[in-house]
Amino acid sequence: MLNIAIAGLGTVGAGVVRLLRQNADLIAARAGQQIMVRAVCARDKNKQRDCDVSGIKWVDDAPQLAGLPGIDAVVELIGGADGIARDLAVTALGNGKPLITANKALIAAQGVALAKLAEQNNVPLFFEAAVAGGIPVLKALREGLAANSISAVRGILNGTCNFILTRMREDRVDFATALHEAQQNGYAEADPAADIDGFDAANKLAILAALAFGVEPDFAFVRTEGIRRITPLDLAFADELGCRVKLLGIARMGDTGLEQSVGPALVPMTSPLSQVEGALNAVQLQTSHTGHIMLQGPGAGSDATASAVVADLIDLARGNRAPAFGVPVAQLTKVNPGPAHKSRYYVRLQVMDKPGVGADIMTILRDEGLSMETILQRAQSATESVPVVLTVYEADAEAMRRALDKIARLATVVEKPCLLRIED
Ligand code: NDP
Ligand code: HSE
Repeated sequence: MLNIAIAGLGTVGAGVVRLLRQNADLIAARAGQQIMVRAVCARDKNKQRDCDVSGIKWVDDAPQLAGLPGIDAVVELIGGADGIARDLAVTALGNGKPLITANKALIAAQGVALAKLAEQNNVPLFFEAAVAGGIPVLKALREGLAANSISAVRGILNGTCNFILTRMREDRVDFATALHEAQQNGYAEADPAADIDGFDAANKLAILAALAFGVEPDFAFVRTEGIRRITPLDLAFADELGCRVKLLGIARMGDTGLEQSVGPALVPMTSPLSQVEGALNAVQLQTSHTGHIMLQGPGAGSDATASAVVADLIDLARGNRAPAFGVPVAQLTKVNPGPAHKSRYYVRLQVMDKPGVGADIMTILRDEGLSMETILQRAQSATESVPVVLTVYEADAEAMRRALDKIARLATVVEKPCLLRIED
């Protein structure tokens, strides 16, 4: 029997307690032994829970779970890169207890130190639920694709953002309402700024890059931008251009280093990523011997995330001792950051509708060696500003940025331009 302690009984923790009960026989058969929750901890003992914890020992101070006699493994489902979650993780691994967590902020920030501690104490550290919710992408990289070298990872890694963008486009729901719905559904982080400003996806990308490229996870090297500035107008223009707007994470190994970025982008509707809607996530892997692989599934929410946590528990019960990042920590290298890749671009401007505006913009693009592909203007006004969208042929990121700075300074451009990549 595997006796476990769980810290955190919110969306994910309650899901894990429920799943272990609902599928107890199937899980015991696959794990080779029963998995029993023996102790739990959360902030408020009297709170109504979405799971039954009657008869299970309650502990007020999470790190104490790691010292309880008879506990074989600790599951951390509190959240946060430091504080109580880190204290619990360090105490558990330091006490020789296997640790399972869904906490991407913790793994992206402290993953190397925790994996080192796990190795020193000869215990597993697993975090499948930390990336792409219910999609077993870390297992795919660590196990199923272990013989491949990976050249690129690309994906929709945040369920909350994908849900918001889908609700805004399909149902014309405003940003704040869509975010509120995502929170109600249990998709969002405790502070949803982590979702909408891109940091949650950046943490996940850093973890994916670690497994894919054998580097230390380091989200400081992920160029990060969120979805706050995406407006209904962008979604409508994207539609006209045959695209969907998605928050994309991209990690690519180039000749001069590893590029890692998270940001909103236009994805042509011919790409399967464009069809990934709502709280679904998807990860595309470019591999040396199995070509392109795409995994898709629920990226957030109670049941899907619990599925990934319990899969880790089953692995643990079976005796799987794979290194956390696929190789021993000593073999991970530091990130050598590479330049941003070339791409086509979408530029939305709010301009005064005067003669010569287009010519000024074209001159700037020409001076930076850039070439315009399309221009869309859907309104005219002699007195008020109007939105105009340009698409630019494949361009160097720096040249595009310089051109945008110059365009933004034109007297006829009345708002900060919106620049998005078009990821073909
Ligand atoms: P919730 O906010 O729903 O739950 C957090 C839990 O932690 C609550 O039960 C809370 O207690 C407890 N808690 C908070 N502070 C303390 C403390 N100081 N001591 C003890 N317990 C504490 O979060 P989620 O379940 O959504 O997320 C948990 C983790 O899983 C996070 O790391 C998150 O990033 C990750 N994750 C979440 C996913 C999702 O879809 N929600 C998907 C993948 C990963 P109380 O209930 O009493 O307030
Ligand atoms: N807040 C996260 C998301 C939860 O929306 O994707 C899953 O990691």
